[in-house]
Parts: sequence; C-alpha cells; structure tokens
Amino acid sequence: MTAQELRKKYIEFFIKKGHQEIPSASLVPENDPSALFTTAGMHPLVPYLMGEKHPKGKRLVSIQKCVRTGDIEDVGDSTHNTFFEMLGNWSLGDYFKEDSIRWSWEFLTDKKWLNISPKKIKITVFKGDNNAPKDEESIKIWQECFKKSGISAEVYDKKKKNSKSAKIFPLPKKDNWWGPTGETGPCGPDTEIFIDLGKPVNFEKCPNGDDCKPGCSCGRYVEIWNNVFMEYNKKLKAQSSKLETATKNLKLKKEYEYVRLEQKNVDTGMGLERTLAILNGFDNVYKTDVFAPLIAKIRTIKSPPLAKEDKVIFEKSTRIIADHIRTSVFIISDGVEASNLDRGYVLRKLLRRAIRYGNLLKMPKGFLLVLAKKIYKNIYPELEKNKNNILDEIKKETAKFEKTLVRGLNELEKMFKNYKGNFKTFTLTADILFDLYQTYGFPIELSLEEINKLREKYGGIKIPLNIEKHFQELFKEHQELSRTASAGMFKGGLADNSEQAIKYHTATHLLLAALRQVLGNHVYQKGSNINSERLRFDFSHPKKLSNNEKRKVEILVNEQIQKKLPVTYEEMSLKKAKESGAMGIFNSKYGDKVKVYTIGKK
Ligand code: SER
Repeated sequence: MTAQELRKKYIEFFIKKGHQEIPSASLVPENDPSALFTTAGMHPLVPYLMGEKHPKGKRLVSIQKCVRTGDIEDVGDSTHNTFFEMLGNWSLGDYFKEDSIRWSWEFLTDKKWLNISPKKIKITVFKGDNNAPKDEESIKIWQECFKKSGISAEVYDKKKKNSKSAKIFPLPKKDNWWGPTGETGPCGPDTEIFIDLGKPVNFEKCPNGDDCKPGCSCGRYVEIWNNVFMEYNKKLKAQSSKLETATKNLKLKKEYEYVRLEQKNVDTGMGLERTLAILNGFDNVYKTDVFAPLIAKIRTIKSPPLAKEDKVIFEKSTRIIADHIRTSVFIISDGVEASNLDRGYVLRKLLRRAIRYGNLLKMPKGFLLVLAKKIYKNIYPELEKNKNNILDEIKKETAKFEKTLVRGLNELEKMFKNYKGNFKTFTLTADILFDLYQTYGFPIELSLEEINKLREKYGGIKIPLNIEKHFQELFKEHQELSRTASAGMFKGGLADNSEQAIKYHTATHLLLAALRQVLGNHVYQKGSNINSERLRFDFSHPKKLSNNEKRKVEILVNEQIQKKLPVTYEEMSLKKAKESGAMGIFNSKYGDKVKVYTIGKK
C-alpha cells in the first residue's frame, strides 16, 4: 500500500462515519508558547476540545504534519522519525469510547479497509490512579471486538504473569494518559493499539524475556494508533491571591487538579509511516514509499559498503540523513529559518546532523540539495510553492556549516600536532569527544573516524573501549540539563485559555491594525506567542521602529481598548471572508469555513 492510498482510505472511512475533513495546520503552532512545533493533530484543536464551537462541526478527520525532536537520538532505528504524518479523527463532545474503539477495530481489521489480522493486535489501557479511575469501559469494549473475531481477550495480570496470552494491558499514567500539550489544558486516559511483530527488532533477544509487553524496548510491539478520551482539564489548583503570591515567592511546587471538561472528546492519532510499514510487511519505515526514493537517491550517490560493520553505519547514517532532510524541508516551508534560537536552532541542528552523517558517508558537497528536491510534492502543495526559499535556506546553512566543519577538523588536528608528550601514553577521553560534539557538532562516529586517521599520521593514542558509553553518559546528563532549561524557558507557557490570554489575543489584532495604520499596508502578521503574562507579535517591516512610531501604535491600541468594544464573530466561507476584507494568515490551515471576528461595529 502506498502512503497516498492509506491517507485516502483513512479519510474515506471517517467521512463515511460522519466526519468532516480539515486541512493540516502549520508546523509552527499559533498562540502556543508551550511547544516549538505542532506535535500532534490535537494541538491546533485545543480551543475546540475546551468547548469552543468548530465551524466544521463535532466530528473531524485530518492528516496533520507533526514534528517531535525529543527522540532525535533514536532516529535511525526502525520506527522513530522527527517528522511524521498523523492520521486523526476527533469527536468534539459527540461520540465517545464505544464508537471510537469500534471504528478503530473496524478500520484496522475489516477486509474492506486495512485487513490486519486481529491476532496481531495488542491493546493498552489506563490502569487508574488518584486522579481518574481504571478504564474498565474500554477494556469491555475491546473484549467485545476481539470476541467478534473469535478471540477471548485476557487482561494482563501481574500475579498471573500472563503477558504471553494477554491481549489487554492496563498501564499507569506515564504510559496511558495523553496531554495536555502545555502545562495545563485538555487531557485524558488513552488506549493504545500495538501490532505484535512476534519477535524483537532492536535486539537479538528481548531483555524482558517472557515478560515482554507492549512498550518494551526490544521493539517487538509497534504502537500504531492512540485513542485519547479527553474528558479532563488539567488546571492549576485555585488559590487565594495571597497564597498565589506566597507560592511564587517561596517557589513552592504548584499544585494541579484534573477537573472534568463540560464535553467528552475523542482525540486519536495514527502514525502514517509506521502503519504503512506494518501493512507492507516491512521491518522499518524507510522501506515505505515516503522514504524509499530518498534512500534510493543516497544509494545512487554512494553505493553501500561490503563489510558488515560498515554496512550498519551506512544504513543508520542513510536513515538519519533521509529523516532530517525531510523534516528540514517541511519546517522551512512553514516559515522557519536556521538560527541559534528555538525553532531556528532545531532546524540548524537537523541540517548539521544530516551534513555530518553525509560526511561520514563521504557524500559530495551539496548532496542535501539533491535530496531536498526529491521530497514528495503530491499532497503538500506548499513545498512546491516554497521550493526556492527551501533550497536557498539549505544552501545558506550548508555553506555556513562547512566552514565550521573545516574549523573543527583543524582544531582536532592541532590537538595532535601540539601534543608534546608521548602519544603512547595519551588516552582519549569522552570529554574531548563531547567537546567536539558540542562545539562543532561532530557525531561520535565522525570524531572517532577522524581520530583514527590522525592516529595513523601522528602515532597511536589509546582509545578506551568504553569511550562510547562514557560519551553517551555525558550526552544524557547534558540532555537532562537542557530539558530543565527549556522547561524554565517555557514556564508559565501554556496553550493558554485564561481570560488574560484571550484578552492579549484580541489585543494582537488591534496591534496589527495599528501597525498597518502607522507603518503601512505592507505589514503582515508573521506569528504570535501569547500566555497570561505577556504577548509577542511578529510582523514584517524592513526597519526597526522609531520611538515615535512605537508611541503612535501604543496610543492607537490603547484608545481602542478604552472604548470597551464588543467582540463578535460570524461564520462564513473562506471566499466570503476574504472578500469582506478579513485578515488572517491565509495558508492551507483554514478549511472552507472560517470564523471572522469583528471588534466594534462593522
Ligand atoms: N494526541 C494523541 C497523540 O499524539 C492522539 O492523537 O498520540
């Protein structure tokens, strides 16, 4: 099955079940400082999960572009990608567990649809805790589904040690609870659908032996679909303002509570690439048609080595290059430029990693551009539209990095040249490798390869056997630190639906109108980022604003705020909205019906 066939089947199935298709939102989330990228299909739907009316109704289906970089070091294995497409269906206060689970079962197992053998399916459900009860209802519905296929689905019981025969596994919050995307917001227990491949993929033997269960690191079980029952809102516990100040001052731990939402929602997400691999009987996602042309291109530029060990490095590097160039193309297309900050930093890191792995394979200069041109265009017209911009950005960043790479290699050579002692007693340390990684972005494989060359030239230094393990330890330590730092950076950041954040959101519209009045009609919104403490508004203008211009804008906005104008909205077709002069970032994110807000009288 091709990716396009799977996409079509999914949409068709859910349209048959009364859903309306919505287009993918941008990879750059709007008004959500809690995340750098859109990480799930539910991300752009947060306001509607919280109760706002969606112009397309209560049942939605979409294919959402997603970027997740938390697992970047796992890319190269059989299933992890930094960019992926998520097939999702939503109920906004409409159907709940019963229909959601039954439809998933039907879509997966029915001959007309994906025709996956029910015998291969394993399920996890939420085991329950102080915040929410065990999901007995889902267990029952799943058991009925299995029963229809003649399977009596046992529930895993730790005491019985029945992981071999069990079909349904209750797991704690860390496994079977999804959301919120930020600090607070909609969330709920989930039930995840796994395909049992029958044997470990990542290791020869499963480390858990007979107790191998969905979620095990051996890769035997591939998670393909997650159904989230979003019926909770994770909120900061209400506190008196005095207590709130005290909490802030004393840096006390914030307390949260899970309150039931007014509507019960369903949010599901199916990984397109993984599911496609399963359906085609492939043992990794790179064999599917979303990656195959890229992998083939790399192989025509560089033929795979013959030696077994080199083959492993070749395969892994090929996959990393293919994954990273694909993600880079998509995020540049959605407006990101390489830099040392936030999204720009992620883009830089992806491109640099791709170049480094290319170096490892001795790919010729400019190979990324050749690959970028191969990224599919069929369903994402924006890639074709933004082609020049995408290629320019890759070219610019490649040139910059090549200089850094030369500097890094020179530095490394200097280390050898300037060493006055006896090379025989010099031992390479993981710190040196980590330094090369951090300063010049050298992956450990590249550093070791270069060091090996230099050893031949200058004499043998010692390389401890466990150096890679030490490097990984340093790497993990560093990752923890940077996670804490970025948690701090986004502190207080939430897909914020507080009253204050909503006010700021309205203010960004006033700000745009005022900027256009003062600076001219070339000013367009480029992005915005709001939480309850501040708003940020990005716009296009070739110069820095003068103090006088800023003052004028400020006065105009404040004048409008003081008028306490009513804010109203009207639903209309996109065409009519454009004709009425409504402003927005009219990219593919909008469906054919939109809400047009008016401040004051029309
Ligand atoms: N939000 C859930 C996920 O990302 C289901 O779509 O897995």
